[in-house]
Amino acid sequence: MNSLKEKTSQTAPMIFEQIHNGPCLSYLIGCEETGSAVVIDPEIHKIERYLALATRHGLNIQYTLDTHTHADHFSASQEIAEQLNAAVIMHRSSVAPFVDIRVDDGETIIVGKLRLVVMHTPGHTWDSICLRLEDRLLTGDTLLIGGTGRTDLPTGDPEELHDSLFNKILKLDPALLVYPAHDYRGNHYSTLGHEIANNPRLQKKERAEFVEQMRALDLDMPRHLTEALRTNRSGGKTVSQLINDASKKVSFMSMEEVNRRLNSRASGIRLLDVREREAYLAGHIPGALHIARGQLELRVNSALPDPTERIVVYCDYGKISTLAAATLRDLGYTRAIAMDGGFSAWQEAGYPQEEGDASG
Ligand SMILES: [Fe+2]
Repeated sequence: MNSLKEKTSQTAPMIFEQIHNGPCLSYLIGCEETGSAVVIDPEIHKIERYLALATRHGLNIQYTLDTHTHADHFSASQEIAEQLNAAVIMHRSSVAPFVDIRVDDGETIIVGKLRLVVMHTPGHTWDSICLRLEDRLLTGDTLLIGGTGRTDLPTGDPEELHDSLFNKILKLDPALLVYPAHDYRGNHYSTLGHEIANNPRLQKKERAEFVEQMRALDLDMPRHLTEALRTNRSGGKTVSQLINDASKKVSFMSMEEVNRRLNSRASGIRLLDVREREAYLAGHIPGALHIARGQLELRVNSALPDPTERIVVYCDYGKISTLAAATLRDLGYTRAIAMDGGFSAWQEAGYPQEEGDASG
């Protein structure tokens, strides 16, 4: 965390927070005078952190901005916008349907007394922008410290990146501070002059040389590439968000409590195994009824005619069962709960199991 609170005579007092989440860097930037703030490149797992920082500084987040469509992490922009009634800002070529303000090269975003000037810098992606703010430049993934954004992901283009760097960014004042969207070495910031002199990728200044260098990079694909692109481009939920939302609708029962009830005369619970049939036949919690998750809505009326029954759902690892229990609640099974843990953990703990078909 790099916290700077700055006041100079020419510029508006600014609150500037850099938030690290692994190699992903995001920023909370606020106008000290008015309390208006923008969060830049927010990441879904850091939402509480941004909100806490905003509260600590007395800031009101009015905007949330993504410097480009991220392929390696999940943007929190839509979620923050919904929670705080903030506006989402991206470049006009972004395909995300949840963007409220589409900006283009040369436009200014006003945050209280602060002015962020948009530069369209395609190359890493076609919707990449950099933001100039007083003595600094937020470079997104166009320029990194000691590197540049890659150009081999969807909408990337090394020729455009060369143009954005050598004909735009690198022509700015070398004293500008560089704040990128990623850093893999624990750096906080650099200066444009330092990067021009030392950044290895920028030493290949000729277009053909630069493009060849970028095409020769043989980088691994980001781990969550397809999921990140799906959610960041569509505004859809991540799988973990879906499970998280479901977990807010239900309560849970520990494996220990389930086992204790199995051994009591009147357990008061009905166990429901939602794994695939083969897994169920190979071993399940004694007495559990089986309905595979995919069949749940179709079979629930005949298999579970009493919606007041206290149904304890379990699966392999506790995720599908959470979704299934939430579905049952939506269907009116108001006492449906999920087991805290799954059959794998149940077996590991040495609790009893039986094979075959107990449902008959
Ligand atoms: Fe990126």
